[in-house]
Amino acid sequence: MVYQKPMVVGKIKTMIFGAGGMLGTELCAVFPDAVKLTHSDIDITDKKKVMESIARVKPDVVINAAAYTAVDDCEDNRELAFDINGKAPGHIAEGCNITGAKLVHYSTDYVFDGSINEYMESDIPNPINVYGKSKLLGENNIIAKMDDYRIIRTSWLFGAHGRNFVDTMLDMSSRMDKVKVVNDQFGKPTYAFDLARKTVEIAGFAPGIYHITNEGVCSWYEFASAIIGNAVPCTSEEFIRKARRPKYSVLVNSKTTPMRHWKDALAEYLNKRKIMV
Ligand SMILES: NC(=O)c1ccc[n+]([C@@H]2O[C@H](COP(=O)([O-])OP(=O)(O)OC[C@H]3O[C@@H](n4cnc5c(N)ncnc54)[C@H](OP(=O)(O)O)[C@@H]3O)[C@@H](O)[C@H]2O)c1
Repeated sequence: MVYQKPMVVGKIKTMIFGAGGMLGTELCAVFPDAVKLTHSDIDITDKKKVMESIARVKPDVVINAAAYTAVDDCEDNRELAFDINGKAPGHIAEGCNITGAKLVHYSTDYVFDGSINEYMESDIPNPINVYGKSKLLGENNIIAKMDDYRIIRTSWLFGAHGRNFVDTMLDMSSRMDKVKVVNDQFGKPTYAFDLARKTVEIAGFAPGIYHITNEGVCSWYEFASAIIGNAVPCTSEEFIRKARRPKYSVLVNSKTTPMRHWKDALAEYLNKRKIMV
């Protein structure tokens, strides 16, 4: 692995799709001069508009944080999931390839089936739900259409600007005596704030797939217990969801320096949240 210098943010023309999402909002803070496009500015499934917008801006780097992330809803809205998460990244890649921009795109731990304890960047994906299948199609469409891509697979994102597990737990905890949380699915919680900052470094690295998460593995129950005092463990069979989840979706980062432990990142987020509330 060749370690390269991080990208110089200010001198690089950057364009962000999905600027209004949880990660997208953090990216906007890291790339203040970027051309920032939210869902209301552009629908990434509109190939013509996507290609035109990239051609007009002529960015050095395009960052795509737009996605359909409601994992259970994807089961019911399969076509929409494949359009947004699968085909649209291909449109963006085509636009980048024509103008010579590099692309940074985000994918997910859910491209894996969870049958082994942890996954390297080189492991073969085998998604078990529609969301994972649609995100894998997105990866493959990018790889088919351009060379200068960085695909960042991440997991269990939490942060200030979107619906996420930490806020859901705090809300449920205040309304319920006990909050049942599954204790047989394992992954790596990741702070959107940290991932956005790490993106600067990854954009300067060699093209390829990167596994970027905070350090430390836990179950959803263990994650919940670090947030609230009234979590109780249950099994996946007791907590049936529309979409199947992998038992292990632990991403191993074998290419770059590790980020801090998720417990440290969580402590910072909870502190910031206290100040914000
Ligand atoms: N959240 C996680 O736990 C997690 C885990 C692993 C990987 N990831 C990946 O990380 C990336 C960022 O996720 P996130 O949690 O920040 O997602 P998010 O908060 O749901 O943000 C996604 C953004 O994409 C926008 N969007 C949806 N459909 C669009 C379309 N057709 N055209 C343009 N914009 C559209 C959404 O706008 P609207 O809300 O207005 O529709 C939203 O602002 C995604 O690629 C996701 O797959 C997330």
